[in-house]
Amino acid sequence: MQVHTVESDILIVGGGMAGCGAAYEARTWGKDLKIVIAEKANIDRSGAVAMGLSAINTYLGMRWNQNTPEDFVRYVRGDLMGLVREDLVYDVARHVDSSVHLLEEWGLPIMKDASGKYLREGKWQILIHGESYKPIVAEAAKKAASEVYNRIMITHLIKDPKNSNRIAGAVGFNVRDGSFWVFKSKAVILASGGATHIFRPRSVGEGWGRTWYSPWSTGSAYALPIMAGAKMVQMEVRLVPTRFKDGYGPVGSWFLYLKSYATNSNGELYDNDREKLRAKYGKYADAKPMPTCLRNHLMIEEIKEGKNPIIMHTEKVLDTKEKEEAGWEDFLDMTVSQAMVWASQNTDPKEKWSELVPTEPYIMGSHAVNAGAWVSGPSDIAPEDYQWGWNRMTTITGLFAAGDAAGGAAHKFSSGSFAEGRIAGKSAAKFVHESKDRLPAIDDQTIERLKGEVFQPLENYEIGHTFITKGTVSPYYLYPSQGLKRLEKIMDEYAGGVSTLYTTNKVNMNRGLELLSMLKEDLPLLGAEDLHQLQRAWELNHRVLTAEAVLRHTMFREETRWPGYYYRSDFPSIDDKNWNVFVLSQFDADSRLWSFEKAPVHVLVGNEGVAP
Ligand code: ADX
Repeated sequence: MQVHTVESDILIVGGGMAGCGAAYEARTWGKDLKIVIAEKANIDRSGAVAMGLSAINTYLGMRWNQNTPEDFVRYVRGDLMGLVREDLVYDVARHVDSSVHLLEEWGLPIMKDASGKYLREGKWQILIHGESYKPIVAEAAKKAASEVYNRIMITHLIKDPKNSNRIAGAVGFNVRDGSFWVFKSKAVILASGGATHIFRPRSVGEGWGRTWYSPWSTGSAYALPIMAGAKMVQMEVRLVPTRFKDGYGPVGSWFLYLKSYATNSNGELYDNDREKLRAKYGKYADAKPMPTCLRNHLMIEEIKEGKNPIIMHTEKVLDTKEKEEAGWEDFLDMTVSQAMVWASQNTDPKEKWSELVPTEPYIMGSHAVNAGAWVSGPSDIAPEDYQWGWNRMTTITGLFAAGDAAGGAAHKFSSGSFAEGRIAGKSAAKFVHESKDRLPAIDDQTIERLKGEVFQPLENYEIGHTFITKGTVSPYYLYPSQGLKRLEKIMDEYAGGVSTLYTTNKVNMNRGLELLSMLKEDLPLLGAEDLHQLQRAWELNHRVLTAEAVLRHTMFREETRWPGYYYRSDFPSIDDKNWNVFVLSQFDADSRLWSFEKAPVHVLVGNEGVAP
């Protein structure tokens, strides 16, 4: 087998928006450094922005005095029911506008209004012609990076044998030629996207692969740092976005720009009932705009009462040619599948309404949730206990995180993830310069052990398939797709997926953990008949560890902090007295044990964003 070894100053794992931002900025501050990107797909069309976007959801408009970073912090805090790392959110806010200006300079077409300002979709969002968003950003990253390795799936991070808390690099394999890759690096930036297919999707059978967030986002952003022993935060808060049914078309442009509205099956407006929310969730009901999870909650209540379908009245708003075009472009820019659902179901949106549903949950750090690694904050604003080193460094020395991988900073979206990648890139360059460490030596035994582990599924299949009794049924291995179905079923039924309308409790989760541990016993027996399946096997490994973190975090937090994302029937209220805190977890790979602690939520920006 071919083994390649690459030595670098900075290794970027994942070349999506955050990874591209990291490469660009690391080069600006580290002209002398060797910066490499390892990407599972091809950075021209990788990550959540691969298909394109029709809007940039985070743009403050500071040059036109439209918003301040403080306004943004208040908004994000309100949306996340109080639990955000304000230092990180503020840091993204102050850098995001200049990042958007760079994107425009590189060729991204941003729509303008009559006065020449960016055309606003909403208070924070601007409209773009963004089908080619990702190739434009990738071009800059390719110019900045010393080397870009496409088609490399990173399976494990490696640490310095002399210091178990110091990163030393990563290993993985080429998904096309099966070669083994060893990256030795002084610093590593994790930017590998969030996680879909943790919970069973609403799409089943022939539609199984269709989810809203990218199906190739497989939890590497979480499993890699968890395996390495980094502290994690907010893994319990899952994103349930409201979407057009079956095609998963987003709703932002429709609600905010086209001023569409939704009703229940009786034609009643249901989504602004603050009285109803206040009775149960107090001051949180008054955040403006209404928190994403509470908007979901109102929809879920309607569904419980049997008042579905929930109807998006596209037919009431597409009354001009311009609006009709904007409606179609919204989906053609970023969710072509929704346009296809319309076409295949004879739906002309200016004549006929569409159904909305709350989707299956996703694990992310960049949207209206903030799962990820617990990272050090910016030195000028982060409180002491949020600061232990360079900005965006995890609790492992030399390991940085950005985008979906960095926890606590919600509402980054594409532009904020790119900006946070830039922040991490600058910081990693500073780390390499200041720490002056040599490349940590990695012993051959570790490399050999990992190589064996990485390719084991191929061997399992090679040996096991001769014993096959019938079709895909084998007594000696399981296919990645079989393992994934088991994982999705466990999470759906026991961790608060769609089949229980997002509800769970301690007994239920304990049972889920039991079943998950049985699935974990089977994972060393995964069988891969080819390299594609080998990739699937490692994606499943990463997803299972991500799922375990979600379950354990959800179990630890004894309250229902984000109604509409998930409910604990045994602790149905928001409990500010005990739980206005972050939950941090840490996994010890040697003992296989998890430990949990609470960390304070510091309010840095005045004016409680959640109550008048
Ligand atoms: S997207 O990420 O796929 O574009 P979506 O279309 O739901 O998500 O949201 C786009 C933006 O609009 C996000 O900033 C989201 O928070 C915001 N948004 C969506 N719906 C509403 C609403 N009803 N009220 C306020 N903000 C909304």
